[in-house]
Amino acid sequence: ALYGAERRNSRGLALDNCRDQTALYAALHGQLQHDWNAAPMIGGEMISGRVRPVTSPHDRQCRVGQVWEADAQIARRAMESARSGARAWSATPVAERSEALRRAADLMESNYPTLIALCIREGGRTLPDALADVREAVDFLRYYATLAEHDLAPRTLPGPTGEENRLLYEGRGVIACISPWNFPVAIFTGQIAAALVAGNAVVAKPAHQTPLVGMQICRLLHQAGVPPAVLHYLPGPSAAVAPTLLSHPALAGVLFTGSTASARHIQRTLAARDGPLLPLIAETGGVNAMVVDSSALPEQVVVDVLRSAFNSAGQRCSALRLLCLQEECAERVLGLLSGALAELHIGDPLEPDTDIGPVIDEAARDTLDRHIRRMEKQQRLVACAALPPAAAKGCYVAPCIFELDDAGVLREEVFGPILHVVRYRGGDLEALLDTINASGHGLTFGIHSRVDATVRRVAERIGAGNVYINRDIIGATVGVQPFGGRGLSGTGPKAGGPDYLRPLVQEKSIATNT
Ligand code: SER
Repeated sequence: ALYGAERRNSRGLALDNCRDQTALYAALHGQLQHDWNAAPMIGGEMISGRVRPVTSPHDRQCRVGQVWEADAQIARRAMESARSGARAWSATPVAERSEALRRAADLMESNYPTLIALCIREGGRTLPDALADVREAVDFLRYYATLAEHDLAPRTLPGPTGEENRLLYEGRGVIACISPWNFPVAIFTGQIAAALVAGNAVVAKPAHQTPLVGMQICRLLHQAGVPPAVLHYLPGPSAAVAPTLLSHPALAGVLFTGSTASARHIQRTLAARDGPLLPLIAETGGVNAMVVDSSALPEQVVVDVLRSAFNSAGQRCSALRLLCLQEECAERVLGLLSGALAELHIGDPLEPDTDIGPVIDEAARDTLDRHIRRMEKQQRLVACAALPPAAAKGCYVAPCIFELDDAGVLREEVFGPILHVVRYRGGDLEALLDTINASGHGLTFGIHSRVDATVRRVAERIGAGNVYINRDIIGATVGVQPFGGRGLSGTGPKAGGPDYLRPLVQEKSIATNT
């Protein structure tokens, strides 16, 4: 109830703005005439580095702009500058920090055509995905603003007469925010918003593939009143920038979303440092499953499976990878799914009728193609969508469905539009859940069943952070379905949840003899 009103507002406003599609498209095309720039921004000053063109994964001939990339020396400057801004920001009342986030939310809403256009062209996201990305960013800003005011204001605690006891929350210092390309607006903004509102300075490193939209977001945050000395932008190759960030003495914590392997590398690097013990919040991937029993409604299952597996070309950490069908309903569901797959429109993400756009880059496409070739040899291809001829200009992968011999075949996350299916016998449900849990991941999970006892048992047994019942398994709503996994899927606390800010502050108790 506390955050609900604000969440509805931001979602409603974004929708209202987009009701007039002609105006929206005119605005988007206008934005796409620009040649966008990004560069390291330290203390509000743009620094030049090695320049690299940014092209669209939809068509590599389509130039979006250029980025000047940071190297280790620029990364060091960013950390030092952030250290100088951290103390005053931590001393700024939490209400003022929250207000800056709210102004940024308003600015994002009024600048949504720029953000959406860049999200589509640079990140290859479809229009609905890009819109949702911006809305979620706005939700993060407003949610963390309210949460901080509620939870991080100084408190007076009861104590003996003649003593005053205060509990204060202070920022930790400089937080490195290292974000992915698949939500270049929402996750990028969410990490920064949380770290800032908790009183920290931030060095924000966007994904290599999406530096342009990150630059615009940082500009909006500065315009909203976040001091340039507090928020620094650092586009650049991870290999050049990350070691400097992780080893710098000013570093006070890391917010990371990306692969499990990279999270483990960061964790090891932080553990090997001398000096203070630093917090890491890591959100990584999942081998996300959905169990469908014979009581489920096949038509609803198909809609929810399509959205969960293929939305965003399967490039969500929450996406469905393993669909488990009870034998009695498997043929029917697979038949419907195959038919629906053939109807998907794959193409330019800017076009309103496109369901599936490109994957992010050539490396992702090649990895997925290798997986498909391995699956074709070892498992059964159920259905594969056809790519249009224009797909050859960009990084496209045809969505496909494979039936596996056994759920245990899939151990690793496959980050793209490939769905794996297994059949199970009703009596083997417990063993199936054991196999799913044994992957060690635990991010999202779905169950489709109209038997209450089955739903309850499965939801209790499964080791996943986000469980969805009789619906799709993507698109967690900020403040409503706090998002994040366990085990190989992440450290917690959950993004967009009431506990996310805690690791980002340090508590100070002050007892005064009055
Ligand atoms: N939060 C996103 C979702 O729920 C994934 O990052 O789909």
